[in-house]
Amino acid sequence: MSLAGKRILLVISGGIAAYKSLDLIRRLRERGAEVRPVMTAGAREFVTPLAVGALSSGHVYTDLFSREDEQDVGHIRLARNCDLIIVAPATADLMAKMANGLADDLASTVLLATDRPVLVAPAMNPKMWSHAATRRNVETLRRDGLAFIGPNAGEMAEGGEAGLGRMAEPLEIVAAAEDLLDGGRKPLAGRRAVVTSGPTHEPIDPVRYIANRSSGRQGHAIAAALAKLGADVTLVSGPVTLPDPRGVKVIRVDRAEEMLAAVLGALPADIAVMVAAVADWRVATENTEKIKKKPGEGPPPLMLAENPDILKTVGHHEKRPKVVVGFAAETQDVENNGRVKLQKKGADLIVANDVSPETGIMGGTRNSVKLITAAGIEQWPDLSKDEVAGRLAGWIAERLS
Ligand SMILES: Cc1cc2nc3c(=O)[nH]c(=O)nc-3n(C[C@H](O)[C@H](O)[C@H](O)COP(=O)(O)O)c2cc1C
Repeated sequence: MSLAGKRILLVISGGIAAYKSLDLIRRLRERGAEVRPVMTAGAREFVTPLAVGALSSGHVYTDLFSREDEQDVGHIRLARNCDLIIVAPATADLMAKMANGLADDLASTVLLATDRPVLVAPAMNPKMWSHAATRRNVETLRRDGLAFIGPNAGEMAEGGEAGLGRMAEPLEIVAAAEDLLDGGRKPLAGRRAVVTSGPTHEPIDPVRYIANRSSGRQGHAIAAALAKLGADVTLVSGPVTLPDPRGVKVIRVDRAEEMLAAVLGALPADIAVMVAAVADWRVATENTEKIKKKPGEGPPPLMLAENPDILKTVGHHEKRPKVVVGFAAETQDVENNGRVKLQKKGADLIVANDVSPETGIMGGTRNSVKLITAAGIEQWPDLSKDEVAGRLAGWIAERLS
């Protein structure tokens, strides 16, 4: 474990995402790190020092002019007696102070006095993040040698706002911290992954096809999250309008049969995450000419044939990856259908979601999933698709470790 025995100073500043710092403390500590928290006055408006102290099992540092804290370690020692400083969440305000060398509270003073590596996880409203002042400050901090993780794209806490500004997920921050401390070691380095994404298009004739509402957002986010953790990722994508994720090999296909061939071509792999909404049926006999509407004749009958079951094929393949994950898009009886699918398909995990039209999940940016394994069912809260991807990549990394 690359964080075992590492001393991490966690600076928490005053943003909504401060609640995620509680999970971050837990994640760091379960990897063997010792966490010393410093909270700004703003942070204490969002989470209490009591909660932070309970999770970190130690003193929480808040005041620059506290006699008790100064006698305990003192702000200079606090700044230096650590292997890494993580600022999560980093507010626009704190980054502005850091970029300009201000030191008017304990957090900013420690950040100015340190000679240790600093990892910054910004979190703010997209307008604050894209403001020219924040852009300048981030650029300055990067030039000063600070490392950044995130922010991610997604919906903001304030309703109706979406864009770049969500704090990176705790496990992404953990991975970035490991990277910094471990010279680039990533938990999925050396692992191969194949991910499918998007819909398939099953042609009826040269101009028409059968499709579904899948946008590819979830599959693409998972490919990106696995790559971020160091995996060598092949993304087999149906027709989508999304940009290719960075650091991922993309194979574009149209039909289920092409998708299967591309997936099998990507084996052997350690990880398979089958997210694509593959059409169950294709037209039995494809028409090479456009079907014409003939006066007096009714609509042409469409005979359907079954498409290959890609997840099942991979789950029972002689080159079966160590971790096989399938997605189940259901509109009723999500848990039961997920359990049946887990068994039938030979998967280790089914990520089941309710895609009834009123959920807005199919084609949307958020997801509410249940993780179904042989051990039981875990319900995740309503999350952005990037967050589901980050968490799932972490789950896979843990399963393989
Ligand atoms: C409800 C609420 C949510 C806020 N969320 C954020 C945020 O996510 N990011 C941010 O940069 N500032 C946010 N702010 C503004 C900061 O709290 C404010 O700039 C504060 O001075 C930051 O202090 P600090 O940087 O010392 O922690 C929020 C303010 C309020 C009232």
